[in-house]
Amino acid sequence: MCCFLAGGRGFPCLEQKTHDRRRPWVLVKAASSVTTSPIGGLGATYRYRYSIPFRAHDDWIKWPESGGVVKPKPMILGKGREVLRDISPVGRLGLRNLWRYSGFGWSGRIVAGVPGSIGALPPRCPCGFISRHMECLPGFREFYPEPLPLKDAWSCDARNHLFNAWRQTARCYGFREYDGPPLEPLELYTAKSGAEIVGQLFNFVDKGDRSVSMRPEMTPTVARMIAASERAYKKPIKWFSMPQLFRYEKQQRGRLREHFQLNCDIFGESHVAADAEIIALLIDVLRRLGLDQQDFVVRLSSRQAWQRFYESRNGDPARAYEFYQVIDKIEREKPEITAEKLLALSIDVADVRKFIEAGEPTPELQAVLDNLAARGLRDYVAIDYNVIRGLAYYTGVVFEAFDRKGEFRAIAGGGRYDQLVKLLSQGKVDLPALGFGMGDVVLLELLKSRGKLPTFNAGLDCVVIIEDETLRAESLALVQELRQAGRLVEYSLTPAKGDKQLKRALELGARYTHWVLRDEAGKVVYRTRHLISRCELTGDLQSALTTSDPLR
Ligand code: HAM
Repeated sequence: MCCFLAGGRGFPCLEQKTHDRRRPWVLVKAASSVTTSPIGGLGATYRYRYSIPFRAHDDWIKWPESGGVVKPKPMILGKGREVLRDISPVGRLGLRNLWRYSGFGWSGRIVAGVPGSIGALPPRCPCGFISRHMECLPGFREFYPEPLPLKDAWSCDARNHLFNAWRQTARCYGFREYDGPPLEPLELYTAKSGAEIVGQLFNFVDKGDRSVSMRPEMTPTVARMIAASERAYKKPIKWFSMPQLFRYEKQQRGRLREHFQLNCDIFGESHVAADAEIIALLIDVLRRLGLDQQDFVVRLSSRQAWQRFYESRNGDPARAYEFYQVIDKIEREKPEITAEKLLALSIDVADVRKFIEAGEPTPELQAVLDNLAARGLRDYVAIDYNVIRGLAYYTGVVFEAFDRKGEFRAIAGGGRYDQLVKLLSQGKVDLPALGFGMGDVVLLELLKSRGKLPTFNAGLDCVVIIEDETLRAESLALVQELRQAGRLVEYSLTPAKGDKQLKRALELGARYTHWVLRDEAGKVVYRTRHLISRCELTGDLQSALTTSDPLR
């Protein structure tokens, strides 16, 4: 969520952590020292850009310094103190032009806020009944089955669609699935992940006095697992995993505090053919999801190329990672800041830009390009030395996948990290390694925006309709038989009108409905209806089972 400009007054962008909901809010700078009311109440007045005052109900105060926790007590405000005011019922006016607030004996200038009119931004809790103290934490998600209760809710069906594509493609390439613990020793990440990720750890001291962290990435875990077990496996070892990861990042589009990430890695192969194989896998995962070369590109680069560049300019070897960090941010940072940082490393910014523009592939990058061309995947990759990767452990070919329009953050990233297994095993196991991580957040946003997500329903095969309650036992027996035959089956747990049950079957997208009936002779018979063609067949139990067989 980004901040907005109020009537020409520039509002600074506030970190989302100060407010964990999706309603509009403003940050008010108090004009004088006052005691605020426990809750804002109905008396608050906001001034519109052209000084038109209007009233709104700001229903509580959030204190930025307490991380957005509600303090339902009167508080003394020093002049210049900043207070968050929730202004949910602003209605159609929106927030765009608000600039002044007054309420209960104090007033202040509105200095920042998060946009949205109340219609556009529903409360996080779809029913609105959950106490705000118990709402989902900022940057964490709830996944709902479709149809979604809110337009911007996260879909569990879409997530599973992604997981299926991830798993199927990885298996097509001969990768085997593994998993690891979600909580790890802190040191696993401080050893070699790099300063950026270490600054984003969800870490704490556990009850056994151990320094631990929720896993922010999978690579150190898999490298440790490989170091401990590589003798049991034939090389190259090709493994994949789909862990949920946790990073205390500034919440923004495409970046949350948890995400799922497909990780595919190869161990024990130093030949460049492995680099091409892993990149081809990345491309095919995205292709399986319906994206093509018009939608995304994999930008290829080389840590070694940058290392050689740095060495040839007599860069201090002890500060090489610092240099890689500057290159990693080169596209996001202001040019003058980049130039300043490079100067501090005795590197000329023009020299760096010339190297990037030339984009001359190293021999190993050329080999990757040729390998991908042989598979018909050349159009999906481009040499781009703007990429270097932020993580500290990369040593060779590195790459990142982006949407072609440049609307989103990186879809995936990875590269070769030949020293990590050795480092984690204290020199005992020396195995080359490479791989990539692909997050679900950007990918789902991209698929949604390109209309590449299918529509999801309950995917039911049949609904057993119980119209005659004297036949409930026989109907339950049919439900059981159908389920044992592998069908996805629903029925009404309690008595309900037949037409209501039929309507529900249609809503659920079922393909067949079944009825258990008695014929004129009082014998139990089974009627099956195909809901699209409305064709019906009445017969014995076996005919009911075969009629609705999806494989028929
Ligand atoms: P990474 O570039 O930090 O690499 O993350 C890979 C992908 O995970 C990103 O391109 C992005 O799609 C997603 N991602 C990362 N952080 C977030 C976040 N806060 N919210 C949502 N999505 C996120 C790694 O993690 C490496 N360990 C990948 C790797 C595997 N390298 C070799 N093997």
